[in-house]
Amino acid sequence: MKRMPLEGVRIITIEDFLALPWGTKMLADLGAEVILVQSHKRVGTRLAGAFSGVLDNKLGGKFWNRNGRNFAFSRNKLMLTLDLSKPKGVEILKELVKISDVVTQNFRPGAMKRLGLDYYSLRKVKPDLIYLSSSGYGEEGIWEGYGAFARTIDGMCGLSNLCGYIGGEPQRANPSYIDTTQGWNNAIAVLMALYYRRRTGKGQWIDNSMYEVGVTCIGEALMDYQMNDRIAPRPGNRHSSWAPHGCYKCRGDDKWVTIVARSDKEWEDLCSAMGSPSWTKDKKFAGSLSRWKNQDELDKKIEEWTSNKDQYEVMRLLQGVGVPSGPVLDAKGLLLDPHLKERDFFPRFKGNNDLGESGARPCVNLPFKLSLTPSSIRFHDTLGGHNEYILSQLLGKSADEIAELRKEGIISEEPVIPEGFTPQPIELERLKEVGTIRDYDKNFREILDIK
Ligand SMILES: CC(C)(COP(=O)(O)OP(=O)(O)OC[C@H]1O[C@@H](n2cnc3c(N)ncnc32)[C@H](O)[C@@H]1OP(=O)(O)O)[C@@H](O)C(=O)NCCC(=O)NCCS
Repeated sequence: MKRMPLEGVRIITIEDFLALPWGTKMLADLGAEVILVQSHKRVGTRLAGAFSGVLDNKLGGKFWNRNGRNFAFSRNKLMLTLDLSKPKGVEILKELVKISDVVTQNFRPGAMKRLGLDYYSLRKVKPDLIYLSSSGYGEEGIWEGYGAFARTIDGMCGLSNLCGYIGGEPQRANPSYIDTTQGWNNAIAVLMALYYRRRTGKGQWIDNSMYEVGVTCIGEALMDYQMNDRIAPRPGNRHSSWAPHGCYKCRGDDKWVTIVARSDKEWEDLCSAMGSPSWTKDKKFAGSLSRWKNQDELDKKIEEWTSNKDQYEVMRLLQGVGVPSGPVLDAKGLLLDPHLKERDFFPRFKGNNDLGESGARPCVNLPFKLSLTPSSIRFHDTLGGHNEYILSQLLGKSADEIAELRKEGIISEEPVIPEGFTPQPIELERLKEVGTIRDYDKNFREILDIK
């Protein structure tokens, strides 16, 4: 196997939900040894909420290991269960910190301090430690103790205000846009701190807040107010100065294409691709300002042209004359997209452990390719799947000591299932009835060629 960029870096991550797991997944894909520490007594997100679905809707056996979020965010991570509410759990974590480079965590500020696992406590056991806290509003500040999810940050950071139709209500930037953005920022911050430590030998504390990451996403609106005293309306699909700039209906059920023309030249090229119909010569559409002012009519005319065409056909026609355009795809469309297929963006992962059933399922790759040191999808772990390896190989614990930890409930390979919880199958027809899903394909395995 080719060498990986982060080989030799060991990261301990105490994480949940999406914002941090997304970033540490990237570091694991790039070859870092990422040890995911979780409590087998706090398995809420494995059993409920987003991504709780179990592969193929099969609920038998160790269903918690075939959970969707495991598959999506925890790949390439070695799983260690540790009950950190017990002093022995904390002690083991500290032993692990001594032989690691980075600790990351995304609990509510204060939680790690209460466990004695904040930066200043852990720096005592590993002076050059890099420690990342990923929180809603930062580790300091008047809202430091507040909890956050992407939905709440969306609203505060200005994004929701800029999403949604003109004159309509603020919309969520789906799906959990801030979580994934926070994830990337978490990964970048850790890489920068590793680089700095290599040059100086010094570790440091990274305080990354979802709120601030969110605000960086609306830089243009901030600048508009700072410089021009302007507050823009919700733009819908439109642009503040380019027209056409929109999303147009195509042939088929819920099929759309986007088109952007920035200049008179691109407008002329768009017209020629449409066959230069007479309406395009109307003086209403002659200059960029005039096109912008007459967008309602312009969009209607363009949609008359797109509506009987396939979305890919429109893209090919327009891209052929240099006008940026692309189909609006859903998950199925992406998984079947020929371009992504050619670039091997959804590599097939061979199952392992209890996850054998994942089979040759497509996985989302990292979006960038390093020519010498590519990332890789190596394995999916199970709850506590590397307890033995970490405790015996890395920390030198004897079989008796490990057995004692299991007996005391500090580690386990089985979760403590909350009383009254029984896994429920996902009833697709019912979800369709209530509108939670738009549709489903019974034969999706065939469509995706999953054996
Ligand atoms: C998402 C969030 C609101 C959830 O809040 P919550 O479920 O009440 O959880 P908290 O973070 O407040 O607390 C986590 C608890 O788990 C405990 N815990 C975590 N790992 C543990 C382990 N391995 N063993 C024992 N306890 C553990 C912590 O000690 C803490 O307990 P405490 O409340 O008694 O101090 C909150 O975690 C948060 O704001 N996180 C930062 C922002 C974030 O990442 N949001 C999710 C975006 S996808």
